[in-house]
Amino acid sequence: MTYSRISGTGRYLPEQVLTNFDLEKMVDTTDEWIRTRTGVERRHCVAPDQTTSDMCVEAAKLAMESAGIGPQDIDMVIVGTTSPDLIFPNVATLVQHRLGIPACIAFSLEAACTGFIYALTTADKFIKAGEVKRALVIGAECITKLIDWKDRNTCVLFGDGAGAVIVEASDEPGIIACHLGADGQYKDLLYYPYGASKGLAKAGTDEAAIMMSGKDVFKVAVSTLGNIASETLAAAGVAQEELDWLVPHQANIRIIQATAKRLNLPMEKVVLTVQDHGNTSAASVPLALDVAVRDGRIKRDQMILMEAFGGGFTWGSVLMRF
Ligand code: UT7
Repeated sequence: MTYSRISGTGRYLPEQVLTNFDLEKMVDTTDEWIRTRTGVERRHCVAPDQTTSDMCVEAAKLAMESAGIGPQDIDMVIVGTTSPDLIFPNVATLVQHRLGIPACIAFSLEAACTGFIYALTTADKFIKAGEVKRALVIGAECITKLIDWKDRNTCVLFGDGAGAVIVEASDEPGIIACHLGADGQYKDLLYYPYGASKGLAKAGTDEAAIMMSGKDVFKVAVSTLGNIASETLAAAGVAQEELDWLVPHQANIRIIQATAKRLNLPMEKVVLTVQDHGNTSAASVPLALDVAVRDGRIKRDQMILMEAFGGGFTWGSVLMRF
C-alpha cells in the first residue's frame, strides 16, 4: 500500500512585528486584554508591496531544502489561502513558476483557516491514488490586508505568514487519517463581505474587512474541534496516550486549552505559536509544525494530530506519524 508522508517543512514570517503595545497606540485596547482573552503577544505583518506568493516561495525553498529535494522533483503544488495575490492565476501557479517547478498540477483552495488541512488532505488522496509522487503543500495568508485596523474586535487577532511541507509517496505511514467537514449555515458568523462576483472594494477599509461574531465562533470552534480530535483518534484506532503532539490551529489559547482538555492531553504536548504569530489563518498549522520540527520537539515517527477550524464554517484534522 502507498502512504504519503511529510519529508520536509519550512516557514516564512514577514519582518515587521506588531506587538500588543503597538496596538495600544492604534485602538482602545490593552496588552493585558489581548494576552488574557487570546494568548497573542505579537504578530508579523507583510510589507505593503509583499504578497502571499512571496511568502510561499520562501517557505517552500526551506521545505525543499529540508526534504533534500529540488524543484524538478515536485509534481503537484497546492496552496491553501483566502488572501491570494490575484483572483487568477491561482497562487500555486505563481509559486510553481517562480520556483522553477516543471509544469504540473497546481491549484489554490480556499477553506479559510482550514485551508492547509484541506490542501494536505487533497495531496494525500492524489498520492495514495498513485497520480502524484511528491507534492508541495502550503498554507499562506496576507490576512492583515483584509483587516479594519480601527476595529479592536478583529485587528488584535490576526497575523501573516506561510508554512510549507513536502509530502511524498512512502511504503510506511505517514498520514494515517484525514477528516474534513463544513457547514455553511454559519456563514454569517465569520466572513469577508466582498469578492469577484459580489463586487470588489478596497481591502482593509472599514466597509471591506473581516466580520466576526467572536463569541459565537468561539463556542462552535470549541465543540467542533473537541469532537473532531476525538473522532479522528477513534476512527484510526489510536489511543489518546499514543499521541505525542497536538498541532492545533492557533486562533485563541483558550480554544486550544479547551481542545487539549477534551483530549485529556497535557499542554506540554501542544505546540503553541499563537503568542508569537497570532491567528495566521491557513498558515497557522504548518507554521506551528515547522517551529516544533526545527526546534527539535517533533521527531521522526512521533504521532501528531493537526486540526483547524475557520470561516464557513470549515474544519478538519490530519493524524500522522511524522
Ligand atoms: O480562526 C478562525 C476562527 N476564529 C476564532 O476562533 C475566534 C473565536 N473567538 C475568539 O477568540 C474570542 O471570542 C475573541 C478573542 C474574538 C473575543 O473574546 P471574548 O472573550 O469572546 O470577548 P467578547 O467579544 O465577548 O468581548 C468582551 C468585551 C466586550 O466589552 P463589553 O461589551 O463586555 O463591555 C468587548 O467590547 O471585551 C471588549 N473587547 C475588547 N476590549 C479590549 C473586544 N475586543 C477588545 C479589545 N481590547 N481588543
